[in-house]
Amino acid sequence: MAKRTLEDLQKQYNASAAPQKSGGMPPLRGPGGRGPGGPGGRGMPVVKPKGDVKKIVGRLLKYIGSYKYLLIVALVFLVISTVANIAAGYILRPILNIVSGENMPDAGAAQRTQAIIFYLLVLLCIYAVHIVAQYLQAKMMLHISQNSMRKLRGDLFAKVQKLPIKFFDNESHGEIMSRFTNDVDNIAMMLDQTLTSLVSGVITLVGTFAIMCYTNIWLTLITVVFIPFFIFGGAAITKRSRKYYSSQQAALGAVNGYVEETVSGQKVVKVFNHEDTCVDEFALLNDDLRHKQIHAQFYGGIMGPIMGNTGQISYAITAGIGGILCLLDKFDLGGLGIFVNYSRQFARPINEISMQMNTIFSALAGAERVFDIIDRPEEEPDVPDANAMPDMKGYVKLKDVTFGYVPGKTILKNISLYAKPGQKIAFVGSTGAGKTTITNLINRFYDIDAGEITIDDVNIRDIKRDVLRKNVAMVLQDTHLFTGTIMENIRYGRPDATDEEVIAAAKTASAHSFIMRLENGYDTVITGDGANLSQGQRQLLNIARAAISKAPILILDEATSSVDTRTERHIEHGMDRLMQNRTTFVIAHRLSTVRNANAIMVLEKGEIIERGTHDELLALGGRYYELYTGKKELD
Ligand SMILES: Nc1ncnc2c1ncn2[C@@H]1O[C@H](COP(=O)(O)OP(=O)(O)O)[C@@H](O)[C@H]1O
Ligand SMILES: [Mg+2]
Repeated sequence: MAKRTLEDLQKQYNASAAPQKSGGMPPLRGPGGRGPGGPGGRGMPVVKPKGDVKKIVGRLLKYIGSYKYLLIVALVFLVISTVANIAAGYILRPILNIVSGENMPDAGAAQRTQAIIFYLLVLLCIYAVHIVAQYLQAKMMLHISQNSMRKLRGDLFAKVQKLPIKFFDNESHGEIMSRFTNDVDNIAMMLDQTLTSLVSGVITLVGTFAIMCYTNIWLTLITVVFIPFFIFGGAAITKRSRKYYSSQQAALGAVNGYVEETVSGQKVVKVFNHEDTCVDEFALLNDDLRHKQIHAQFYGGIMGPIMGNTGQISYAITAGIGGILCLLDKFDLGGLGIFVNYSRQFARPINEISMQMNTIFSALAGAERVFDIIDRPEEEPDVPDANAMPDMKGYVKLKDVTFGYVPGKTILKNISLYAKPGQKIAFVGSTGAGKTTITNLINRFYDIDAGEITIDDVNIRDIKRDVLRKNVAMVLQDTHLFTGTIMENIRYGRPDATDEEVIAAAKTASAHSFIMRLENGYDTVITGDGANLSQGQRQLLNIARAAISKAPILILDEATSSVDTRTERHIEHGMDRLMQNRTTFVIAHRLSTVRNANAIMVLEKGEIIERGTHDELLALGGRYYELYTGKKELD
C-alpha cells in the first residue's frame, strides 16, 4: 500500500486499537503505569459502567464477602492510622506553647524540658500506632483484594472453558484477554487503593476541619473561603488533562497497534520491501504520540504545583492574620503553628476524592465487562439422564440435518448420510461448501436447527457431552499445539497413554522420524503454537494426537493439506490400520487421497449434490468427475 498520511493512520489504527474492540494484544497502560497518570488516575477519560451500578457493586461485594470480617478489621486499622496521623499534628501545640511561655509560664528550664520530652514521647507513641496500623491495614487490604481477584479470575477462566464455540466466533481474542488483565487489574486497584484513600480522605477532611474549628473559628473561615478555588481550579485542570489524556491514549493505541502488526507481519513487510514505508509511517505516529504526551503530561503535572501555590497563598494569609491575632493576645502561638499545618493538608483530600471517582468508574466498568462474560450462557447442560454410552460403536446417522451459524442464514440443507464402523466417508467440495461445518455438528460444537444426528441410534443431544467428545477424535483444520513437550502434546489426546503408545501414534502419523531429528526428540518443548515447526509438521503432531485416542469415530479435516504427497501416502498406510474398526470422516484437499473411501459426498453450497464411490462418481460424469479430472478447478 502507498504511504498513508497521519490522518489515515490515526483513523485506521484507532479503530482497531479502541479499547472496546482491540483485536490484537490488550491495550498497553498509559505512561506512569499505576500512578496518577495510569488507568483511572487523574485525567483518564471516565469510562462509566453502562448498567446498574448497584448491581455491579453488589456482585463485587459477594467476591469480597468471604473476607467481610477482615475488611472490617482493616477499616478499623485504617481509621486508627488516619486519626493518629491527624492527632500527631496537634502535639505541636503544647510544645510550642511551652517554648513560647504561654504554657507553664512560671516553670524553670528543666521542668519545661521535661514536659517537652513527655510530649515528644506521646508523639512517638502516636506515630508508632499510626505506622503499625497503616502496615496492618495495607497488608489486609492487599490480602482481601488479591484473594477476591484470584476468585474472580478463576471464575472467569472456568466460565471461558464452558462457553460454547459460538461465543469465540463473535469475540476477538484480544478482547477476551483484556478482561483477564486490564479489567481485573482495575478492580483490584480500586479495592486496595481507592477504598483506602477514600476512607482516609474523608476522615482527614472531617477530622482536620473539626480541629481547625476547635483551634480558631475565624482562621477556619478564611481557609474555607479558599476551598472553592481548590475545587474549581482542580476541576478545570482535570478537565483539560482528561482531554489530552484521552488523545494521548488514542495515539498510544495507534503506536501499539502499528508495532504489533509490523512485528507479527515482519515476513510480509520484508517480502514486499515495506521496511522504509513502515519506518516513515511509524515516524508520523511516533511524533504524534510525543506531541500529545507532552500536553497530557504537562497538564497532569502542573496540577500539583498549582494546587500547591493556591495553598501557599492561603497559608500566607492565614499565617499573617493568625500572627496578628497572637499579637492581640487572642490566640496562642502553638495554636497558630498547628493551624497553618492543618490548613495546608486540609484541601488535599478534596482533590484526591474527586480523582478516585475516575478509578471507581473504570473499575466498575471493568467489573461489568467481566460479569458480562460470566453471565453468558454456557454450553447447554446435558439433558437429565443423559446417556453415558459405555460402549459406543460408531454408527453415525445424519437425517435431514439443517443448520446455520446465525439465525436466518442456512449453511447446511437437508444433509442425510449413514456411516458405520470400518467405513471411511469422504467430503469433497469447494472452499466454503460446508465440509467443516458438518464435522462441527457431529461433536456438538454447534447444535443443529432441524433434523437429527444419532450415534448408535441415540440422538447426540441425549448423549453426555463429555462422552460424545471422548468418542469423537478430531484433527481440526486449524492446527493448534500447546506449550509443552511433544510427548505431552500428543498425550493430550489420551492422558493415560504410555510413552510407547505416544511413540506408536507418532509413527502412525509419520511424525516419528522428524521428531527424532529434533535435538531433544520427544522432550522438545514446543512454544508459541509450534512456531519453530513447519506447518506440515504441526499437522503430523495434530494427527498423532488424534491417533492416540481410542475413539470409535475419527474426523480428519484437511489433516494433511500441508504435507507432501509422499508423506501423505505414508500416513495413509498408518491410518488405514487405525481406521480399521472405526467410523472415519475425511475431508480431503487432494482428491487422490479419498479414492478408496467407501462413500464420497460431494458438497456444494451446503447440499450433498452427488454421492457414491470413486468409480461410481467418475462414471456419473458430474461435478466429482469435473473436480477429479481437473476439468473444473476447485474454486
Ligand atoms: N463460525 C462461523 N460463523 C459463521 N459462519 C461460518 C462460520 N464458520 C463457517 N461459516 C460459514 O459457513 C460456510 C461453510 O464453511 P465451512 O464449513 O468452513 O466450509 P469448508 O467446506 O471450506 O470447510 C462458509 O460460507 C462460511 O462462511
Ligand atoms: Mg473447512
